[in-house]
Amino acid sequence: MTPDGAPALVTGASSGIGAAIAHRLAGRSAPLVVTGRDAGRLNAVAAATGAHPVVGDLTTTAGRAAVVSACDEHGVGLVVHAAGIGAAGPFSGVDEAEVDAVLAADLVAPVQLTRALWPAVRRARGHVVFVASIAAIGVAGEATYSAAKAALRTFADALRLEEPAVGVTTVLPGAVDTPFLARRGYDRSFPRPVPADRVAAATLRAVERDRAEVFVPRWLQVASVVQGAAPGVFRRCAPRL
Ligand SMILES: NC(=O)c1ccc[n+]([C@@H]2O[C@H](COP(=O)([O-])OP(=O)(O)OC[C@H]3O[C@@H](n4cnc5c(N)ncnc54)[C@H](OP(=O)(O)O)[C@@H]3O)[C@@H](O)[C@H]2O)c1
Repeated sequence: MTPDGAPALVTGASSGIGAAIAHRLAGRSAPLVVTGRDAGRLNAVAAATGAHPVVGDLTTTAGRAAVVSACDEHGVGLVVHAAGIGAAGPFSGVDEAEVDAVLAADLVAPVQLTRALWPAVRRARGHVVFVASIAAIGVAGEATYSAAKAALRTFADALRLEEPAVGVTTVLPGAVDTPFLARRGYDRSFPRPVPADRVAAATLRAVERDRAEVFVPRWLQVASVVQGAAPGVFRRCAPRL
């Protein structure tokens, strides 16, 4: 589908990749609903993009219900799930609350929100975008996050097979220069973080071309292809990446 003129929802629009996507949709999608938890940052994005802000926590039933009700009011054809949290560190140091938080924000929330919006998106013959991560192929030191993103990628694959009338795109970025990296304690020089707007541009191009998956930067796709075609080689190389 083309986002031009289609009503759209962008979650996680108060920061980073979601904010960049909202800025690119401004004036193209009408109306545009944006969500986030931080009212100040979300309202600033809404003011700059002419969007309808919905402040709330998507890991709660009430938070998701508020978003669904805004979509009922304004319509929805394009859904971009960009909200998410990271977690890094050895799995031996992960506590129960962190596992719950990551799975709730990165897996349960987008699946539940998609379920609630699915009838409207199907009617609109719309498009759903899941911002996953290259961690979906399995990254050491990010086991829970990798599991959530891999499950989200597979959820998208299943939806795509089940409902050809709805476009489904999974976005798999590497490191992206957003506040997410500092919160997660990213301290590597490789791969170099890309700007959030580069992910936003690739995402909207993928929607227009109805691409199943898009890796940002594109060369990261090699890792996924090697993992699928030669898992033994992948396992030997992965610790060095
Ligand atoms: N940055 C990277 O290197 C990178 C790489 C690969 C994939 N990703 C994925 O890209 C997506 C966007 O990340 P980003 O880099 O843009 O991070 P970010 O700048 O930290 O933004 C995350 C967004 O998600 C929202 N959010 C988080 N938990 C939420 C919750 N429980 N309810 C509602 N909103 C919630 C945040 O809202 P508030 O700020 O208002 O709380 C914020 O708008 C995430 O799914 C992340 O996993 C990021």
